[in-house]
Amino acid sequence: MPQTSLKKRVEVFESWTATYNDSIVALMQRKFGMDYRDAIRGVVTLAHPAPGENILDVATGTGTVAIALAEAAEGDCHITGIDITAAMIEAARKNVAERGMEPVFTFQEASAEDLPFAADTFDLVTSSLALHHTNVLKVLREVRRVLRPGGRAVIADVTANRSWRGMLGPMARVFDQMYMFGTESNDLFCEFHTSGEWRRLMREAGFKETLMDFHEPKHFFSRGIAVTRGIKPIN
Ligand SMILES: C[S@@+](CC[C@H](N)C(=O)[O-])C[C@H]1O[C@@H](n2cnc3c(N)ncnc32)[C@H](O)[C@@H]1O
Repeated sequence: MPQTSLKKRVEVFESWTATYNDSIVALMQRKFGMDYRDAIRGVVTLAHPAPGENILDVATGTGTVAIALAEAAEGDCHITGIDITAAMIEAARKNVAERGMEPVFTFQEASAEDLPFAADTFDLVTSSLALHHTNVLKVLREVRRVLRPGGRAVIADVTANRSWRGMLGPMARVFDQMYMFGTESNDLFCEFHTSGEWRRLMREAGFKETLMDFHEPKHFFSRGIAVTRGIKPIN
């Protein structure tokens, strides 16, 4: 499938926004046998936000991870959420307002591949379930740039199945497409990486001390979930 245009990608996410919070839970349960809230808890646990930290959540969507991080830090932090879809940003603002947490957050429309922030700005950068829609290496390099030396990147994403890379790869991918029918993945170009590829991509982007919490795929042709943490070296 050719790379999806930015316009098409935004349209797909715009139409998903209103039902996103409910449907993502059901979708992850059905397709990956996984509780979406476990993925969020995985990010928060590996991120371990400390009081006073300056945090960026990339492709924040409706703000679920950003809000969970703020709650873990008991509101003593600042979180910037960026996303390419204006409707998602609006939903995130609404979710934050409902919790009376506006002072903790700034949201803005921006692309993960071209972060509008100066180098060495954030203590922690997170992203969940979004990088398969992007050029991952480009985004990881951007994440590394905006992190301060010693800062952490914590990225959760759906992974490719290792079988996709073997001789039966083309067949496994066809099964996967059938299995995922009716999800946003059918309309968008997505690039999934195996857990091993995630480790290599983190290293290639310049992170060290890479640690991974990996949830195995449910079926031989389906996908897993990897939550990966890397540190930006001090020198
Ligand atoms: C499946 S949602 C995940 C949202 C949220 N992080 C979560 O865990 O619920 C994917 C999000 O990525 C955003 N997105 C896709 N490509 C992007 C890009 N290049 N830059 C910023 N956001 C992007 C979409 O607009 C959408 O909100």
